[in-house]
Amino acid sequence: MKIMVVGGGGREHAIIKKLKENKEVEKIYALPGNGGIAEDAECVDIKATDIEGIVKFAVHNGIDYAVVAPDDPLVLGCVDALNYEGIPCFGPRSSAAMIEGSKVFAKDLMKKYGIPTAKYETFDNAEDALAYVEKAPLPTVVKADGLALGKGVIIANTRAEAEEAVRAIMEDKRFGKSGDRVVIEEFLTGPEVSVLSFTDGVTVVPMISSMDHKRAHDGDEGLNTGGMGTVAPNPYYTAVVAAECMEKIFLPTVKAMNAEGRTFKGCLYFGLMITKDGPKVIEYNCRFGDPETQVVLPLLKTDLLTVMQATTNGELDKIKVEFSDRHACCVIAASDGYPEHYEKGFEITLPEDKTGVYVAGAKLKDGRLVTSGGRVLGVTRVSDTLQDAIKAAYDAIKTVKFENMYYRTDIGKRALQAKEK
Ligand code: AMP
Ligand code: GLY
Repeated sequence: MKIMVVGGGGREHAIIKKLKENKEVEKIYALPGNGGIAEDAECVDIKATDIEGIVKFAVHNGIDYAVVAPDDPLVLGCVDALNYEGIPCFGPRSSAAMIEGSKVFAKDLMKKYGIPTAKYETFDNAEDALAYVEKAPLPTVVKADGLALGKGVIIANTRAEAEEAVRAIMEDKRFGKSGDRVVIEEFLTGPEVSVLSFTDGVTVVPMISSMDHKRAHDGDEGLNTGGMGTVAPNPYYTAVVAAECMEKIFLPTVKAMNAEGRTFKGCLYFGLMITKDGPKVIEYNCRFGDPETQVVLPLLKTDLLTVMQATTNGELDKIKVEFSDRHACCVIAASDGYPEHYEKGFEITLPEDKTGVYVAGAKLKDGRLVTSGGRVLGVTRVSDTLQDAIKAAYDAIKTVKFENMYYRTDIGKRALQAKEK
């Protein structure tokens, strides 16, 4: 089988490495992939947002199955366009990707179908939004409606900050058209849990839970990033919480999407907060999370391609999806200064054992791997205990070398503390 994976980050590298375990897979193309992915797939210089280019490539190269991993091509209709040419794909169509593409849509969906989430108001003009934040309870959370590279959420502790957030998003258009509308919502507290799931529009198969570390620095200080590390499973996601999520969140969401004529097939990601009133949805993503995928897929025991195809074919109820009962930890090595300004172009030395090494921001220059992005790579290690997985991931990351390398030193610490309680 010839497979095409659209995207070029650590998540895509993890997907590709897992797909390669299937003996039927003869060839994997990555569009565009990256310098590290080039070890495991043939990288093709076509941007993940170039839908026309992707479709042309797939048709000309006889692609048997495609995996569209990032949010933008999904929202732009990459799966619709590939399906139109008869190419089966893993990922939702554009109408269903809206669950991530518009926060206003997602919030209204949850309200309409009684799915627990933070209380909110939506605004399509700055004047009304500004008037609202004058009286909203503090802290308050201001979110740009559309995709904003994970940066469109501002937690405002004061009225001045809330006002500034509304102006930045709606007037200065810091996130472009994504800020034509905003959601302003109640601030929730509690541990966060990420649950990725496979769904074919009827059956929902939650994957093993995970915990992301979004802030740039130790102790959850600093700016929000794409994610600086992950562990799986997440100790806050107990069997009781899982059952409540399935009943009140997962199945109702899939049913709601069907009722809206937007059947979701692919990986539906639930960003949850376990509040004192039970689990609530913080956000939906229409795709695998990054770097959650880098700890979830190494624990998947069932063949990934089989699960993906069952998802596409509406046959998830016919297979058993199993996860290992071990633990995984992924530590991200970033360029110092990320998520703001950082230098790139430095040569990278990778660990000797490349299992669990997932490259994100790197390219090949004269045959050498050099840094080309903020998050450069992640290293995942799997072990019988969380403690050992964390230690092994840090032992491995210490063997990675590039100038200006930065990583958090406390990935998994909170999870360990929670387990000890
Ligand atoms: P998002 O991009 O929606 O995942 O939001 C980024 C981060 O902001 C989340 O992981 C939470 O830590 C935080 N956040 C978002 N919404 C809320 C909320 N209503 N209350 C508290 N924290 C929030
Ligand atoms: N790690 C969170 C995300 O992929 O959006």
